[in-house]
Amino acid sequence: MRLFKKATAVALASCMAFSLTACGGGAEETTAAATEAATEATEAASEASEAVTEAAEATGKDPSEIKVGISIYQYADNFMTLYRNELQDYLVNELGLSESNIMMQDGKNDQAEQMNQIRNFITAGVDVMILNLVQASSAPDVTNLCHEAGIPVVYINREPDAEEEQRWVDEGIKATYVGADARQSGTYQGEIIAAQENMGDANGDGVVKYVMIQGDPENVDAQYRTENSVKALQDAGAQVEQLVIQRGDWDQTKGQEIAANALTQFGADVDVIFSNNDAMALGAIQAIDAAGRTVNEDIYVVGVDALAEVVELIQNNKFTGTVFNDFIGQSHSAADLALSFVNGEEVNYVNMVDYVKVTTENAAEILEMVK
Ligand code: GAL
Repeated sequence: MRLFKKATAVALASCMAFSLTACGGGAEETTAAATEAATEATEAASEASEAVTEAAEATGKDPSEIKVGISIYQYADNFMTLYRNELQDYLVNELGLSESNIMMQDGKNDQAEQMNQIRNFITAGVDVMILNLVQASSAPDVTNLCHEAGIPVVYINREPDAEEEQRWVDEGIKATYVGADARQSGTYQGEIIAAQENMGDANGDGVVKYVMIQGDPENVDAQYRTENSVKALQDAGAQVEQLVIQRGDWDQTKGQEIAANALTQFGADVDVIFSNNDAMALGAIQAIDAAGRTVNEDIYVVGVDALAEVVELIQNNKFTGTVFNDFIGQSHSAADLALSFVNGEEVNYVNMVDYVKVTTENAAEILEMVK
């Protein structure tokens, strides 16, 4: 399992950095390629991590001496829990950092609290920070703080805006972003619905009527997934109508409430529930069960992330589809870039890892990676 994880991360990592189109093939191709390349990629993975360790040694900074400050916007987030565990594991077991030099903190969804954590990291003299901001709009302030203290920063998951990223380039600031292009995940969601025989028109009235459960709309992931999921369905030729759009802040309980209210209000009119992530979609599934509806018969549900619980439901035909948000590739890249900064190497300013569409066809392979 561990080996497969690494292999896939390497296969996906090769898709990084401005090369989305080159790797934008179908889910089947991507997973088949990853499987075939497993052995070679595993070797490549260990060579790559040895190379990183050697590089660190060559420039004199022993990885076990490197201090990293990490703040995650909120520990209670399902996806970011997978991400932070993988990040910690990779930093220690693959890159050779000492556990006691990794300061990982819960931002508790509070930007002021996270600012204090960042100030404490500066006081503690960390070599580099890996930050999942509570509010991406705080990036300029955070970047300035870190820059003045001479500490490079790797932003993850919540992307600062284009103007801020351009400033890093223009002013030669040691800051970078690692994430995934949320437009791609939205497009995959729409394509999954469009691939149904009735293109998502469960009740056959000629119009795909949908409920949109949004994450935190300050986040580009929420904005792009909302926009591009519907666009892909329309591009495939479906007529659509939005019944409800409401923010659920990535949270399962909120997703359940939004879906329950929508199903009470609109009943059999609801053909599709689009959810910006899997946690909220799991809430929607609870509401669908309670309303006596049947997924893939009289209603469709799509999410993003590929939480193990969701992939299992897909295998059992109880969830229409999701999109793998590659926390393995993203966390490894973030860690590798952090070390590159410490070693004085040049890094790309923006680094994107591909998403993978998940349906019954490849659910088993994806489950191997995420469980
Ligand atoms: C998204 C992910 C969500 C949530 C969010 C936090 O990429 O799909 O589940 O974790 O990040 O910013």
